[in-house]
Amino acid sequence: MVDTTRTLALAYFPRKFCGEAAQFELGLHRLAPMAPSGWGVVWVELDHDDQDANVRAVREAGADLLLVHANRTQMVETVAFVDAMTEQSPELALVLSGWVGKPAYVDECFAISAGLRHPVFAVACGEIEAIIPPMLERLGDARLDADSLVGHRGIVAWDAQNGTWTGDDEFVFVEDMNTLPDASIDHISKEWRDAHAGWVELTRGCRYRCAFCFASCYQHARMRSFSPERIRNSIRLVAEKGVKVMGLYTASVSLDIDLMSTVVETFRELSLSDVTVVGALGPIDKKFIPQDKLERLSRLDWNVMTVGLQSITPEATRLARRPDDKDTFARTMEYLSGFVTPEVELILGLPGDTPAGFRQTIDFAFSLPVNVTVQTFRVDPWSSYSGQRELHGLKADFTDVARVYESKAFPGDQIRQSASWLRDVARSSRERRAHHVALDGEHLNSRDASASR
Ligand SMILES: C[S@@+](CC[C@H](N)C(=O)[O-])C[C@H]1O[C@@H](n2cnc3c(N)ncnc32)[C@H](O)[C@@H]1O
Ligand code: SF4
Repeated sequence: MVDTTRTLALAYFPRKFCGEAAQFELGLHRLAPMAPSGWGVVWVELDHDDQDANVRAVREAGADLLLVHANRTQMVETVAFVDAMTEQSPELALVLSGWVGKPAYVDECFAISAGLRHPVFAVACGEIEAIIPPMLERLGDARLDADSLVGHRGIVAWDAQNGTWTGDDEFVFVEDMNTLPDASIDHISKEWRDAHAGWVELTRGCRYRCAFCFASCYQHARMRSFSPERIRNSIRLVAEKGVKVMGLYTASVSLDIDLMSTVVETFRELSLSDVTVVGALGPIDKKFIPQDKLERLSRLDWNVMTVGLQSITPEATRLARRPDDKDTFARTMEYLSGFVTPEVELILGLPGDTPAGFRQTIDFAFSLPVNVTVQTFRVDPWSSYSGQRELHGLKADFTDVARVYESKAFPGDQIRQSASWLRDVARSSRERRAHHVALDGEHLNSRDASASR
């Protein structure tokens, strides 16, 4: 029996699974098997609205250290929860982790209330499997006060007295991903289970560093793959849970296209012909993977294939360091549409774009046999643009996932006007090949896909 004297509570707001944050989610599910001797791990499901109930739930869990896990869509309730903990249980040490774990981003989010005031608070910057277990080990049975949070790798501690952060906010990586235990997806993943969905990690990181993207945290374009054996095993474990939709977590399935052979072979070996897959592809440039390798993708049954394009405005793509090539992109969409309707992703409001450029991007996307998903540009943590807010005149709403509502490229009301224009054209009946169109998660039309092929 494990000698458990202290308790790490993992607190989370249940929500829809987000592919972009999958590594953090899966990382959270690895902490229990990675906890050092002397530490036990419990889960606390938080209520989105009732912060008093949340404080009670944490107390009842008997937590010695509280890890609050958040993605961008839960920052408003996370701030409310931390404020409630500050009022009612300030002595309990609290670490914020996940996609939002960058001190400068946390500062902006807390500015929506009275600012961060918690006296024993820190942020975990990076992959939590590399941060939390060594931290627990070092903490041992030391008293958990503000000083005890200082000096751990990947932990940036809040100095409430001086209103400053202490520690290095570089993104910390797991050294060897293949030594990680498998993630047991029993908590946050309830929604996946209800949807009969599960995720398998293929790679972490990205060789591109698009200026708008969170993945800029992968300094030196660091990209790591799980081994084929690990991937085979993960697929088997996820399949054993009876999933019908399997997410392939990677910045792009083209980053290590050879892994797709492993996936295809494993699906065949396990007879998973009734399991569909979800995954991302892109950027699509002239040096893009050759057709014979792309053909591997056609051997899976795709539920959703997202393909990033973002913009075709030359200045926007140059500033964002996107290598996409318009002709290669169009050709690739034609090819892919033979076995899946690609979900083309665009961003409204990028630096270097213009309202006219956005309209041309939409016209181009509408000319393709795809679905179109538009996101309003966000100031994401770790992205290069988050450090260039002044340069590009970015005004963002941190109560709304840090969406940009004004910038030098889109002064005044032009982002909102471009969004209204998009709503109108998406609903109008003019000729186009694109099927469904969505903006910030809102479905703008529901054309019959088969009619527009
Ligand atoms: C994680 S990215 C992966 C896509 C793929 N690697 C690619 O580049 O084509 C998923 C999508 O999120 C959107 N996205 C990423 N960062 C964004 C930001 N800061 N603001 C708005 N949308 C963003 C982009 O449209 C992007 O294609
Ligand atoms: S947008 Fe895609 S290609 Fe660019 S850095 Fe992010 S994950 Fe990589």
